Amino acid sequence: MSVARPSDLVQFLRAWCADPARVGAVAPSGAALAELITREIGPASAPVIELGPGTGAFTEAILARGVDARDLVLVEYGSDFARLLQARFDRARVLWMDAARLAQVELFDGRPAGAVVSGLPLLNLSPRKVMAILDGAFRHLRPQGAFYQFTYGMRCPVPRTILDRLGLRATNLGRTVRNVPPAAVYRITARPQRRGVKQV
Ligand SMILES: C[S@@+](CC[C@H](N)C(=O)[O-])C[C@H]1O[C@@H](n2cnc3c(N)ncnc32)[C@H](O)[C@@H]1O
Repeated sequence: MSVARPSDLVQFLRAWCADPARVGAVAPSGAALAELITREIGPASAPVIELGPGTGAFTEAILARGVDARDLVLVEYGSDFARLLQARFDRARVLWMDAARLAQVELFDGRPAGAVVSGLPLLNLSPRKVMAILDGAFRHLRPQGAFYQFTYGMRCPVPRTILDRLGLRATNLGRTVRNVPPAAVYRITARPQRRGVKQV
């Protein structure tokens, strides 16, 4: 897992200057955070959805874990990032769209995903948008699938009320100080009673 290319740092900083709330960081995540957030990912997790890949720091780590690029969908709202991702990961499917619209798209010919890896700046988004993103993601996940989210904050960035409403639970997977700024990762999964409920 590599360090960020100088050109990625420039592109990130430029994107942050143009829209700091959407980008949510001045630089791409480092290798230690990419390692932590993909720690539980492997070939059996496929297919995998990544939200807010930016310049692909987590994408490279997901591929290094043995997930085939054709089993990867990258959902990115920034047009410059989306173009870069499509050029860099040409076998993956890049969707230039708002992750809050996830419920409305068909992915992997209907095959449910094993994992969602999110680099979205959830703390900058409205509760309504966070709810739409989580709800959409869990519609694409299989019952035992997991949503991985990082945060620079000290608590899970998904509010308790939203977890309760969607029947989800969050587990802290650890924190790394080898990232600027330090960050923690949460695994969000369906509570057992939700898994038995068929969604409509
Ligand atoms: C904090 S950066 C993380 C980038 C990358 N995952 C990393 O760790 O280096 C947040 C990313 O989420 C994207 N983003 C923000 N809001 C989004 C949305 N609603 N839908 C899709 N992507 C979004 C931004 O454009 C940016 O690429």
